[in-house]
Amino acid sequence: MPISDAKHRIIAGMQSMISIKDLSKVYAGGFTALKSVSLDIDRGEIFALLGPNGAGKTTLINIVCGIVNASGGSVEVDGYDIQRDFRQTRTRIGLVPQEMASESFETVWNTCSFSRGLFGKPPSPEYLEKVLRSLSLWDKRDTITMQLSGGMKRRVLIAKALAHEPEVLFLDEPTAGVDVELRQDMWNVVSALRDQGVTVILTTHYIEEAEQLADRVGVINHGEIILVEQKAKLMRDLGKKQLVLNLQEPLSEVPAELKDYGLELSDDHNDLTFTYDTARERTGITALLGDLSKAGIHFNDLHTSQSSLEEIFVDLVKRPQ
Ligand SMILES: Nc1ncnc2c1ncn2[C@@H]1O[C@H](COP(=O)(O)OP(=O)(O)OP(=O)(O)O)[C@@H](O)[C@H]1O
Ligand SMILES: [Mg+2]
Repeated sequence: MPISDAKHRIIAGMQSMISIKDLSKVYAGGFTALKSVSLDIDRGEIFALLGPNGAGKTTLINIVCGIVNASGGSVEVDGYDIQRDFRQTRTRIGLVPQEMASESFETVWNTCSFSRGLFGKPPSPEYLEKVLRSLSLWDKRDTITMQLSGGMKRRVLIAKALAHEPEVLFLDEPTAGVDVELRQDMWNVVSALRDQGVTVILTTHYIEEAEQLADRVGVINHGEIILVEQKAKLMRDLGKKQLVLNLQEPLSEVPAELKDYGLELSDDHNDLTFTYDTARERTGITALLGDLSKAGIHFNDLHTSQSSLEEIFVDLVKRPQ
């Protein structure tokens, strides 16, 4: 690296934490897993990468972490190139892999402190204790990891990834196979990391996880990033809202004069659902309520529901390429 570290820091300070440019990956068998992916991850954000099985999420993460070689393009982490400055980039990164590595005969404590040592950090029992406690692993610190349950092993992977105090944490399906209560605990751990300034990139099939945690969401499909957006904006722009009217009297069918509203009658004929676009200036609700009343249709109750990130995601990946 020709420039001094201090100068480097100043330059890096103006950049994203991770900058991916035109990244491609063709596996040995000839399969193209990534097609010219470009993506910038801001410092301190939680970025959720969503995509169906085989979309290329793990490939992308593994390239950034130096486990898989790219076929083309470049990646910088904190301003350092992942190939040229591998040691610089690798020490900044913690990775919780999707696949569990071979079973270990080491204790939880030793696994984590050894990992810290590998990155050249001096021992810090206080820090490790804090990490293990935050992941509810403190009581298991002297247990051989092989003898832990699946969900505990997954938490050990997180503790191990955090052991060297990384600035960027990759979580490749962190809560797969973790029970609901623990998942909430892990979300708290991730939020706390963000509060400490750690940049977090996670992949998940529990879209609720992205909905809860992420600042931004990227959707990848067939090796291409098809969308990157602030989560809140994504949900606002692509989310549809529904108004459900619980009728006083069951309705045999939607009257012809109301057909332009695209109302759906429930199977038990008791509810009418109106779907509207929140981005539109006029939702049509006022007109609908007026026309319902004119048609002699009265309701007991009404409520609205907003589509979840999950529904938005399913819509996105179903779109023709
Ligand atoms: N070592 C490999 N050799 C050949 N092809 C591979 C290899 N690893 C992954 N692939 C292929 O690359 C594509 C992307 O795989 P990847 O593991 O990145 O997907 P993913 O988005 O992480 O999926 P999942 O949600 O199932 O974890 C898949 O079609 C996969 O079969
Ligand atoms: Mg994967």
